[in-house]
Amino acid sequence: MQILQKVLSARDQVMGLAICRAAGVSLGTRVRFHGSPIVTRVEHSTISVGARSVLISDSRYTALGVRSPTILRTLMRGAHLRIGEDVGLSGAVVCAALAVVIGNGCLIGADVMIFDNDFHPVDHPARRYSTQDDASQFAPVVIESNVFIGARSIICKGVTIGQNSVIGAGSVVTRSVPENSVYAGSPAKFIRKLGPIPA
Ligand SMILES: CC(C)(COP(=O)(O)OP(=O)(O)OC[C@H]1O[C@@H](n2cnc3c(N)ncnc32)[C@H](O)[C@@H]1OP(=O)(O)O)[C@@H](O)C(=O)NCCC(=O)NCCS
Repeated sequence: MQILQKVLSARDQVMGLAICRAAGVSLGTRVRFHGSPIVTRVEHSTISVGARSVLISDSRYTALGVRSPTILRTLMRGAHLRIGEDVGLSGAVVCAALAVVIGNGCLIGADVMIFDNDFHPVDHPARRYSTQDDASQFAPVVIESNVFIGARSIICKGVTIGQNSVIGAGSVVTRSVPENSVYAGSPAKFIRKLGPIPA
């Protein structure tokens, strides 16, 4: 069994690296893959994953399982999707039309979605067929360092989550969250303050 596990892990690592390299992702050292992520990068956009980050795309490797592989996508030319060092992603979906930046040491729980745009105009006639981009649909997302986002949360456009903050499971975050704070619910609301990470 251990041998089989080693073979599967080696296969995942080779596949993960190949998928990222084929998509033109800039990878730090010792990025780990469990299962195969889905990665698509539009021309003239960037995706980077920092050293020692772990991308889980297979339910065998995380207690809660994952409902989809980790998905990293840029959607428009000029977009930036940046994942820092020592970040853990479990079946996370991260889509950047402008910019999504995830800082060092973040824990992105099972099946979290993070996106910086609405994908469709909100007004009806344009919603289905418009090819026009309305600036109000887009706003960058910044997840600062050491943030923990609970399982199945959704982080919407324009949100900054301050360093060391925690987002409760199943939250929908539509407004920015200060540092060292716990927020939860839909829409996410203040729960309590946390002490800063000791130096
Ligand atoms: C956010 C969390 C860490 C807070 O834990 P905590 O500090 O022990 O908070 P408590 O359980 O004391 O709850 C405090 C308040 O927040 C509310 N709350 C906690 N988590 C919540 C959530 N996910 N959604 C909505 N409200 C929540 C509680 O109902 C409680 O409200 P009340 O004071 O009105 O009764 C925890 O509730 C949570 O969501 N954990 C799951 C993390 C996760 O997803 N891990 C897996 C990652 S793969």
